[in-house]
Amino acid sequence: MAAERTLVIIKPDAVQRGLIGEITARFERRGLKIAAMRFETVSRETAEQHYGEHQGKPFYEGLVDYITASPSVLMVLEGPDAIAITRTTMGATKPAEATPGTIRADFGLEIGRNLVHGSDSAESAAREVGLFFGEGGIVDYERAIDTWVLE
Ligand code: RTP
Ligand code: MG
Repeated sequence: MAAERTLVIIKPDAVQRGLIGEITARFERRGLKIAAMRFETVSRETAEQHYGEHQGKPFYEGLVDYITASPSVLMVLEGPDAIAITRTTMGATKPAEATPGTIRADFGLEIGRNLVHGSDSAESAAREVGLFFGEGGIVDYERAIDTWVLE
């Protein structure tokens, strides 16, 4: 099938705990490609847009505080079924319900500090990739690989 793109955030707790390499490696090992990557503290405005679906829920303010607390790693991952593969590599939202071997099970304890975000559908992925990387800078892997092979 055609490659998909999804938006991943290595959240502030994972960055503070020194888990950028460990988490990134798990996605790369599955064969997903990093098509874009940036290190930054997400602004409140962007966080509110990103998590807009949760506005009004009891955990919303805490969620926005969490994701804007300190730098995150933002990335676009690309590959066949990238959206679903990213979500199964992350594990369930609540670390207590995540399957051992997933990121949230292996490194997490609390739902409010669950290390990583991944888009949950094709619609969310398109919206979130646009929100964080709308200015461009996403590698076109199919073209890049063709070029490498030809050179
Ligand atoms: P994410 O969007 O971060 O990838 O997480 P998700 O799809 O697995 O879960 P979602 O329902 O979209 O929730 C977004 C984030 O909000 C926090 N949360 N806290 N205290 C709570 O009950 C609660 N529920 C959700 C988590 O950080 C979750 O990842
Ligand atoms: Mg979500």
